[in-house]
Amino acid sequence: MSRMRNVLPNPQVAAARLRRFCRLRPRLAIVLGSGFQAVVRALEGARKVSYSRLPGFPPTGVSGHAGELWEGRLGGTPALVLSGRAHFYEGHSMAQITFAVRALAAFGVRDLLLTNAAGGINPRFRPGDLMLVRDHINFMGTNPLRGPVSPGLPQFVDLTCAYDPALGGLLERAARRCGVRLRRGVYLAVCGPSYETPAEIRAFRRLGADAVGMSTVPEVIVARQCGLRVAALSCITNLAAGLARGALSHAEVLETGQKIQTVAVGLLKTFAELYGGEK
Ligand code: HPA
Repeated sequence: MSRMRNVLPNPQVAAARLRRFCRLRPRLAIVLGSGFQAVVRALEGARKVSYSRLPGFPPTGVSGHAGELWEGRLGGTPALVLSGRAHFYEGHSMAQITFAVRALAAFGVRDLLLTNAAGGINPRFRPGDLMLVRDHINFMGTNPLRGPVSPGLPQFVDLTCAYDPALGGLLERAARRCGVRLRRGVYLAVCGPSYETPAEIRAFRRLGADAVGMSTVPEVIVARQCGLRVAALSCITNLAAGLARGALSHAEVLETGQKIQTVAVGLLKTFAELYGGEK
């Protein structure tokens, strides 16, 4: 683990590269998961750089995850948009999959909105629903802060209020304005890449989870260590294992993600607009 981490550059190096790339100085960054990729098309004055040109940024593997960092105005508000993320299940270390968050913090981003695809556990949820994450359960069996302490940063990070109420409030306002029903719930993160068994889903429900996914939690933990304000939004792409009649498939996840693109773009654009008006 420490060896893996040592091969990564200092996040300041990536931040310096980002500074050379950026014309705006966005305080808001958005990470796009499945279902949210179309948001880049709503950026005004959009410019992009491939992750491969940003030292330390991970290669991304899953279809539907491009690996590009975009800059532009979303609803008039300067924003950095990360299209594509590396996942733990691809074999990357925790340090690798959270490196971009450290780079964003070093660059000067203050607020981070993470989006993802998730399986619905709450029986009221339907595929295509959007859920504001109000808390999480880390079921990945490890923690991105494990290992050497990052200089100048706390090791024992408080996660009592990991998800910022003000940012969450803006998302709720944006949803009302767009006429979108926004669910609220607890996101449980697993390693993947296999989907869960029905027995696991029943157990997770008892633990208090409303949705299950394979990302976001490591990024949230690192973002909180770096002092960023965080919000997270899940697209419920499928009912979790055992809750629907058929089998689960990645194709279903991508298909539902496709269907909600327009709603997701409208919501995030309105959120960014409200965010810009708050400053
Ligand atoms: N389980 C885990 N991760 C997921 C799911 C799921 O059902 N759907 C989308 N990501």
